[in-house]
Amino acid sequence: MSKEKVQIFDTTLRDGEQAAGTRLGAREKMEIARQLVRLNVDIIEAGFPASSPEDFEAVRLISENIEGPVICGLTRARKEDIDIAQKALAKAKRARIHTGIGVSEIHIMGKFADEKYGKTIGEKQATILKMGAEAVKYAAQFVEQVEFYAEDSGRADRAFLYEILEAVIDAGATVLNIPDTTGYAMPEQYGALMREIRANVPNIDNAILSVHCHDDLGLAVANSLAGVKNGARQVEGTINGVGERAGNAAIEEVVMAIHTRRDFFDDVETNINTREFSRTSRMVSDMLGTPVPANKAIVGRNAFAHSSGIHVDGFLKKRETYEIMRPETIGLAESRVVLTARTGRHGLRHRLEAMGYTLSKEELEKTYERFLAVADKKKEVFDEDLAAIISDEIHLVEHVYELEYLHVASGTGTLPTASVKMKIKDEIKQAAACGDGPVDAAYEAIREATGLSPKLENYSIRAVTGGKEALGEATVRITEDGRIFTGRGISTDIIEASAKAYVDAINRMVAAKEKGGNADVKAEL
Ligand code: KIV
Ligand code: ZN
Repeated sequence: MSKEKVQIFDTTLRDGEQAAGTRLGAREKMEIARQLVRLNVDIIEAGFPASSPEDFEAVRLISENIEGPVICGLTRARKEDIDIAQKALAKAKRARIHTGIGVSEIHIMGKFADEKYGKTIGEKQATILKMGAEAVKYAAQFVEQVEFYAEDSGRADRAFLYEILEAVIDAGATVLNIPDTTGYAMPEQYGALMREIRANVPNIDNAILSVHCHDDLGLAVANSLAGVKNGARQVEGTINGVGERAGNAAIEEVVMAIHTRRDFFDDVETNINTREFSRTSRMVSDMLGTPVPANKAIVGRNAFAHSSGIHVDGFLKKRETYEIMRPETIGLAESRVVLTARTGRHGLRHRLEAMGYTLSKEELEKTYERFLAVADKKKEVFDEDLAAIISDEIHLVEHVYELEYLHVASGTGTLPTASVKMKIKDEIKQAAACGDGPVDAAYEAIREATGLSPKLENYSIRAVTGGKEALGEATVRITEDGRIFTGRGISTDIIEASAKAYVDAINRMVAAKEKGGNADVKAEL
């Protein structure tokens, strides 16, 4: 069966950016728009051009530079807003004006209280209908696509809603946005609203129905999906669900629900490149300064993390036991097993194997005991902690490479250089190198002396003790052939600590290779 497309209308740059305490400049909006192109959204609502010169500039810049999605600008149902929007959108390959007006009694009586709009609600509704239809007709002269929003549709009088929708379609609206502006609707009601609009607006087949839901009751995504199930073919939302008050429907949640439950949403699909969700989420979070909660669906840090023993065990045996989506689908490299006191032996063994440790059954048992003691004190046990436990407890690494001597010269205006003397079994090797900084120079000299060049993935340094004579502890993570090795080094001299950590990681890597990988970690735990 051929599937109908659900268009994804991203309003992160307009409704999303309306979130309290957030503001994006035109350049930042451009950056996000570029990422939205990679995500392959169908429409980007780039801003509300009449609201500020900065928003005008953002819409202008995006219209001029972004190709692919339709570029949309918001307006009120006013000629002056539409004039400004059409100027901002002038260079867009495909432009849309999104105009509209409040349609619920609360909005009409609140925003159009002045008697010039009419004395009774009936008179005011007639004025609103005329303003909406005129705005659409005016906008349709400038752009091919005009979308009409019937603000606060969720609480609007049905008969009036049908009437105004019919009028704006006749005036040239190609898309009808039915916002649940205040997040008031329940999914069944919102789904029924779509059905009833389709049944009661005679010319509805000439327009696409769009859902635009807010999350005041935590139902934005559920309402949007109910809308799709009942005939809506455009979904409006934001990345990470950012937006006014409790925010908008999170696009990544709506799309992944349609994607993952294609058995349920069997007649629709989206164009979204879901592998860009993770990256897009991070970018929006960084640029808006709005952290993503760890337990947020799809893109939260814990969305693909397993921690408790039963879950980890089940997940490691068969991923589908506890995962309904693959992390790769949203652009993550893999799921995470988070090591805590509840993780259990199986999870610990799995992590140690990934780090390249080859332990006997007894060694693993000893490591588990120490691991539990650390995990009881800490919320999460990291690779660095495991590396420390193993080197303290097991001393399994024979130090083939030893750093005998290190000299580093660096300072303002000089090229950092390092020379090292390394003992390699019974041989002494010396080397000198320069680098981008003193640590880089030292690492380059070590690579030169050992003839090994594993990829440095991570480097960190922290003070272990306080005061002038503080001990610095450096931790590095290196990889070779996809395997990870961690090294630690301690010294009052942080460059020396860094060099020791690097040599430590190299020793672990060489030891693991000599022991022939993970073959003897198969011992039952
Ligand atoms: O929530 C809403 O009603 C809106 C409209 C302006 C489209 O954002
Ligand atoms: Zn909104």
